[in-house]
Amino acid sequence: MLIAQLTDLHIGVGRRLAYRKVDTATALERAVARVNAMVPRPDMVVFTGDIGDLGTPDEYALVKDILRDLDVPFYMIPGNHDQRAPLRAAFADAMPIEDGGAFINYVVDAGPVRLIALDSLDEGRPEGKLCSARLDWLERTLHDGDDRPCVLFVHHPPVAVGIKHMDDQRLLSGAETFAQIVLAHKDRIQAIMCGHLHRPIHTRWAGVPLIVAPSIAHQVALDLRDDGPSAFTMEPPAMHLHRWDEKQQCLLTHLAYVDQYDGPHPFFDENGRLIV
Ligand SMILES: [Fe+2]
Repeated sequence: MLIAQLTDLHIGVGRRLAYRKVDTATALERAVARVNAMVPRPDMVVFTGDIGDLGTPDEYALVKDILRDLDVPFYMIPGNHDQRAPLRAAFADAMPIEDGGAFINYVVDAGPVRLIALDSLDEGRPEGKLCSARLDWLERTLHDGDDRPCVLFVHHPPVAVGIKHMDDQRLLSGAETFAQIVLAHKDRIQAIMCGHLHRPIHTRWAGVPLIVAPSIAHQVALDLRDDGPSAFTMEPPAMHLHRWDEKQQCLLTHLAYVDQYDGPHPFFDENGRLIV
């Protein structure tokens, strides 16, 4: 099972450049082409939020247009730049929510593993929230009798990572209860996969790995000063590839760059000798 996680698309209407600089529509097209060209090809893509930049129907129409070229099934959760109603209207198939569900919480049966998608959007606010309705849903889902290993996907990470302006907008409300629920199921939860920070970051939280994927567009500047300004860089766009290894019964996460670089070059010559 191979799952590509693409995050923080920030698509603007009319292919508008994000922050007057980032061609996010082209970035998404390149990421789609990269996924399509992968061998083996991922079984699915999970987009972990900030699909649009302002969350308008026009933005989602453009995303939909670009994703027509994506050759693998995909799922989505919202980020703080999204709006729930238009996102659901545009991508109902990518969000298999139970009937009557007010939030974009759902489970994907990915064979040996279960993907649990969580909606941390607090509309109009940059920071994330898991209200009691969403946390109750998570608790119920983890107690529904399906004991397969699971992977949680949520846009906002619940930890502070040392990038001050992003830490201020992490998952705040509900984070403590979320930690208690995760801790109680830490043996089954393989990892929590997040976006939002536009950087690859790894830690351990509530007894499980917490892995943040870089953006397929722009990255947040790596600035660990307390007063570091809110800024982005054009470091290479990338995605995460989560591979469930059936033999080892574990999940491994690879970083895959969107762009192609020089190589691959062989280590050994035609006689099998190490090239020195
Ligand atoms: Fe973002």
